[in-house]
Amino acid sequence: MRRVYFDNNATTPLLPEVRAAMEPYFSEQFGNASSIHHHGQQTRSAVEHARESVAKLLGCRAAEVVFTSGGTEADNLGIFGVIQPGDHVITSTIEHHAVLFSAHRLAEMGCPVTFVPVNGDGLVDVDDVRKALRPNTRLISVMMANNETGVVQPVAPIGKIASEAGVSFHTDAVQAAGKLPLDVNTLGCHLLSISGHKLHAPQGVGALYVRKGTRLQPLFYGGRHERQRRAGTENVAGIVGLGKAAELAVAGLANGEVQKMAAMRDRLEAAVLAATAASGVNGGLAPRVPNTTNIYFDHIEGEALIIALDLKGLAVSTGAACSSGATEPSHVLTAMNLAPDRARASIRFSLGKQNTQEELDFAIGLVPETAARLRELSPIWRKRSLALGS
Ligand SMILES: Cc1ncc(COP(=O)(O)O)c(C=O)c1O
Repeated sequence: MRRVYFDNNATTPLLPEVRAAMEPYFSEQFGNASSIHHHGQQTRSAVEHARESVAKLLGCRAAEVVFTSGGTEADNLGIFGVIQPGDHVITSTIEHHAVLFSAHRLAEMGCPVTFVPVNGDGLVDVDDVRKALRPNTRLISVMMANNETGVVQPVAPIGKIASEAGVSFHTDAVQAAGKLPLDVNTLGCHLLSISGHKLHAPQGVGALYVRKGTRLQPLFYGGRHERQRRAGTENVAGIVGLGKAAELAVAGLANGEVQKMAAMRDRLEAAVLAATAASGVNGGLAPRVPNTTNIYFDHIEGEALIIALDLKGLAVSTGAACSSGATEPSHVLTAMNLAPDRARASIRFSLGKQNTQEELDFAIGLVPETAARLRELSPIWRKRSLALGS
């Protein structure tokens, strides 16, 4: 059966070039990068080469890159690493749980947290961030691109506010890396998180940019790895993969690959909306990363549509988290003021470098037809159709 994967915001497949770069580090190049002998020197040099590549992607110095086990650890290190008891933190209501639940934990530990809202397009208002500042504000953490809607936040203006107030600024750029140009100086951030598996490197590796001069307490205690910012023997193969993926991401931003992806996303979106009544794009009026569209299909359970599409070979997802058997509407869509029914009827399509126009045609043929079939089973939809005389 044909399988088409449009869930690249969940994870991306490893690119063949990334896999080839990693392969030697699973066999002949096995040294511990902290060992001083030949084997260690080889892997140390590979890790430092990858650090340079990630630094190029972010527009920073290699020494400012700390390798982690992924985006979640990078977010936690960036947040807990700079906060002292009693500090105030500003974040947004639409952060990934890696940031949101860290903020909840800080609040439990006695650090006041302000959650700034978003508007109906999923955008944070820069003025709300400014107004939330307090004399004891230590950190602002606002994501660059949302994982569910792809909406891009006004990160550079928030960076300016942070800098004027003398506050540290962290941005979760996990869903932005490889999709938008990144430059830590333009963004004005002190801390920035990325994750390997969102840009065609493996799962279980990521990085935190830490601006020179930022005082960071480690999360883990142990060896003196990563300039004492992250203890633990380096995941050399993963780091090499992240470095290679960063090089490919820089190339993709320069060679038109990303624009091509935006055109594919726009074609998918337009075709699905044109062929499906009572559908629309969540966050469609805001600036978005080029690969993501979050579409509501009123009067359909998003989960049911995902399962029906999966049975036909198309992998997509909802933003909703499943807890205790009941599908909770997504916190991101709820924060955008969507009614719970519409939030539950929303599905995310996220493209990757490997997707083709033929795959797009397959999805365009499948999605409207599947949505129509599910709606026929909905009593509310049938009542609506009768009322409209169709
Ligand atoms: C915006 C965002 N931040 C953080 C993470 C967590 O990254 P990881 O899966 O590498 O821990 C994700 C993953 O979905 C994400 O989308």
